[in-house]
Amino acid sequence: MTPLEYDFLRKSLKERSGLVLTADKQYLVESRLLPIARKAGLVSLGGLVAALRRGDESLMMTVVEAMTTNETFFFRDKTPFENFRTAILPALLAARRAARHIRIWSAAASSGQEPYSLAMTIKELEDTLAGWRIEIIATDLSSSVLRKAQAGIYSQFEVQRGLPIAFLIKYFSKTGDMWQIAPELRAMVKFRQFNLLSDFSTLGVFDLIFCRNVLIYFDQPTKIDVLNRMARAMASDGYLVLGAAETVVGLVDSFKVVPEQRGLYAPNARRPLPAPQAAVKPMPRLAVVNGGR
Ligand SMILES: C[S@@+](CC[C@H](N)C(=O)[O-])C[C@H]1O[C@@H](n2cnc3c(N)ncnc32)[C@H](O)[C@@H]1O
Repeated sequence: MTPLEYDFLRKSLKERSGLVLTADKQYLVESRLLPIARKAGLVSLGGLVAALRRGDESLMMTVVEAMTTNETFFFRDKTPFENFRTAILPALLAARRAARHIRIWSAAASSGQEPYSLAMTIKELEDTLAGWRIEIIATDLSSSVLRKAQAGIYSQFEVQRGLPIAFLIKYFSKTGDMWQIAPELRAMVKFRQFNLLSDFSTLGVFDLIFCRNVLIYFDQPTKIDVLNRMARAMASDGYLVLGAAETVVGLVDSFKVVPEQRGLYAPNARRPLPAPQAAVKPMPRLAVVNGGR
């Protein structure tokens, strides 16, 4: 691949997905795109770039998807899911006790392990959450990972990464060599293809956004833009969870750090919690419920 062809691919990828390829990633591009070129009947990456330059948008989408990194696993990093169970959910239950409706967005859901980890956590709290409507909207740029997520079918290797054995037994059934998540868990998550560079207003307002391990692939202006738009797509008393290597600090002031909760952020200028209603015992804000599972 010539430097000009590589530059064309870098620019196209950045424009369509926000993903930044550094100059030293040529080997990665070649290994991921050669199979696509061959499948399209093209003999070289030069031929692939020529087809893309002619405006083959469907081939371009295939190329962009092939350049995404979809690494994920169940209950990745543990802490965000512990925070969800012990702090975020209790705070939202207190704040939403009138509406009894919570909306969660898993904004780069990959093959579904993240939203299904949230769904299993919610399912475990079934008794506390009786009468509540909890929506989980899971989106990703890549249609191929979303197909897998929607099917909810995972290999032995995948279910051995992060998933407690008790949850495997309880929520999965074996189909051949694979494991499929239970229909009631699948029904808790709505999957949708969505590009984080596009307008969020079609998605509605969220109480909680999990946006983990995708901002790391964006440059600073794109991170700032996505975070600021997420702040606008979030209830003023909502929460944002980022990946372990990601932060809002030094980037935006639309979010602030939630003290003592690693990776947890809240929109700035949030409204105070509504005053407790006489008949309802208020749940403590950021306190532990159902502790010690
Ligand atoms: C490394 S995975 C993270 C999965 C999960 N959030 C986790 O932390 O385990 C990153 C995901 O971001 C998606 N992605 C990359 N660019 C995107 C964009 N512009 N819009 C939406 N999703 C994107 C990729 O397709 C990939 O599935």
